[in-house]
Amino acid sequence: MSESENPLCDRSQATKISVAIIGCGKLGTALLIGFLSCHQIAAKHKRHSSTISDSMQEFTTAPVRITHITVTVRQPDSATRLMNEIKSANDTKLQSAPQEDAAAVTVSVRLCQENAQIIQESDIIIIGCKPSTLSSMFGDPEMRAAFLRGDQNRDHQKRTLVSLVGGVSIALLKQYLRCGEIKVNDPEITLGKSHYPVIVRAIPNLAARQRESMTIISAPLFATEEEDIDRVSSLFGLLGPTMQIPERHFNIASALASSSVAFYASVIASSATGATDEGRDAGGPLCREAALWIAAQAARGASCLIMSGEDPEHIVRQVATKGGSTEVGLRFMTEAGIGRIMSSTVSECGRATGNLSSWANN
Ligand SMILES: NC(=O)c1ccc[n+]([C@@H]2O[C@H](COP(=O)([O-])OP(=O)(O)OC[C@H]3O[C@@H](n4cnc5c(N)ncnc54)[C@H](OP(=O)(O)O)[C@@H]3O)[C@@H](O)[C@H]2O)c1
Repeated sequence: MSESENPLCDRSQATKISVAIIGCGKLGTALLIGFLSCHQIAAKHKRHSSTISDSMQEFTTAPVRITHITVTVRQPDSATRLMNEIKSANDTKLQSAPQEDAAAVTVSVRLCQENAQIIQESDIIIIGCKPSTLSSMFGDPEMRAAFLRGDQNRDHQKRTLVSLVGGVSIALLKQYLRCGEIKVNDPEITLGKSHYPVIVRAIPNLAARQRESMTIISAPLFATEEEDIDRVSSLFGLLGPTMQIPERHFNIASALASSSVAFYASVIASSATGATDEGRDAGGPLCREAALWIAAQAARGASCLIMSGEDPEHIVRQVATKGGSTEVGLRFMTEAGIGRIMSSTVSECGRATGNLSSWANN
């Protein structure tokens, strides 16, 4: 089915949203570039519920269309870096799809002094700072108040706060919003008519830049705002598959979904090294560029097979024929304990992600 025939890709039916990325560093920039290069609206997601029994359901959400993205950083140098990135992303988009409406998404880059105003003007606010800067960011009473103000001009009075901040729970984010007295001259807030935002945690990965991310999403237990949470899935669905999971699995799942991009990149680079520096005995070394490309495509092939439903062990058996060269490589891996090391790497990383909240508590 072509994009134009696919109802999930129909831009005219999509809910229009404005997005802010407050703290647009490495991960925020990957999201921004991915959003800017969206040519289609995909909206199939997975939900993993482990409350009663382990089960994974597929579900569909209403499509979204981003009308405006505003990003903020602290330093002018970071703003310049972002503007250069946006310019080159727009140039690439124009070259690859000149018929696309280049003005469909407008972007603004601002400095952190304007955080409060930007929050007030946006539907979905993504917080992309480090845990260690969260308390100073939420230390700004105007910024906290901006989250709580309703907006009569919108269908939705509430905003949605999406936190990318590693290890920081939804409960802690709620505390940040409520912490201290908000001294602002706003009767709506002082009279207790605050519209607490819907708070969601999401962890995409750096491949969002290529719209090949895996995004893990968690909402508060017993959250009633299903529509808002699904809208977050729709938004991140523009950048690759998403999966909603209970928050208690969030740290380990984010190690697997996000940090592991670094692990795989380093495994691919090491495999390529085996064919360059150390490949001399096997008939002569390859150049680094060729070796990296071959290794990366082979890794993508393994991923595609697994994601199409093939069992990893079945793939191993199919490649490693008895007495063949793959078997020699696999034996070497087993003796070196690579499988065990990879498992421990992910579990240690998950534990370390959980510990990041100590930075935010300080
Ligand atoms: N990078 C990844 O792949 C990855 C993976 C897993 C989880 N995460 C999580 O994602 C979050 C971001 O990580 P990162 O690697 O993108 O960090 P980063 O590159 O250090 O980005 C943080 C950004 O926040 C900005 N910032 C800090 N305080 C601000 C404020 N008050 N207002 C506006 N902007 C502010 C900084 O601006 P300046 O540049 O001007 O200082 C910086 O651009 C972290 O919490 C991390 O745990 C990231």
